[in-house]
Amino acid sequence: MRIAVYPGSFDPVTKGHLDVIVRAAALFDQVIVGVLHNSAKSPLFSVEERVKILEEATQEVPNIRIQSFSGLSVDFARQCGAKAIIRGLRAITDFEYELQMAQTNRVLAPDIDTIFLTTSLEYAYLSSTTVKEVAGFGGDISKFVPANVARKVYEKLNQH
Ligand code: PNS
Repeated sequence: MRIAVYPGSFDPVTKGHLDVIVRAAALFDQVIVGVLHNSAKSPLFSVEERVKILEEATQEVPNIRIQSFSGLSVDFARQCGAKAIIRGLRAITDFEYELQMAQTNRVLAPDIDTIFLTTSLEYAYLSSTTVKEVAGFGGDISKFVPANVARKVYEKLNQH
């Protein structure tokens, strides 16, 4: 069975992430989306909330599993029995950081490859940070995230 992991913060998941998830699911038997539990960052959503939101957003794709992880992505990949790490590339500005990360991961785990999927053009400008900023100023995020995610972002921002 060909397994890939797709690690990230997903705070919150965007239509760009979902596009990558669906396309990765067509290439692998199973894709495990790894939601990073990073105590150094202070995310809008807890890791449990991000997992739940992703589960709801991907429920129609049968070969996707959502799991939280902490520590190294390559260790998470190994635990999952994955030989590939998926990352999305939006633009050249992503490339330097992504290449550095892929090369670091390669040194740490030569048996695991990073596979870059270029984000579909319609989502190439999109980021979780932008979504939170637009929503924070009361803007419309319905073109950026699925309806259930948008609702949760507004709810969460209203609690703050
Ligand atoms: O969605 P993001 O924030 O761009 O995802 C970044 C992520 C989670 C893939 C990256 O920070 C990561 O892999 N973190 C786990 C720690 C790790 O493996 N570091 C070594 C790679 S430089």
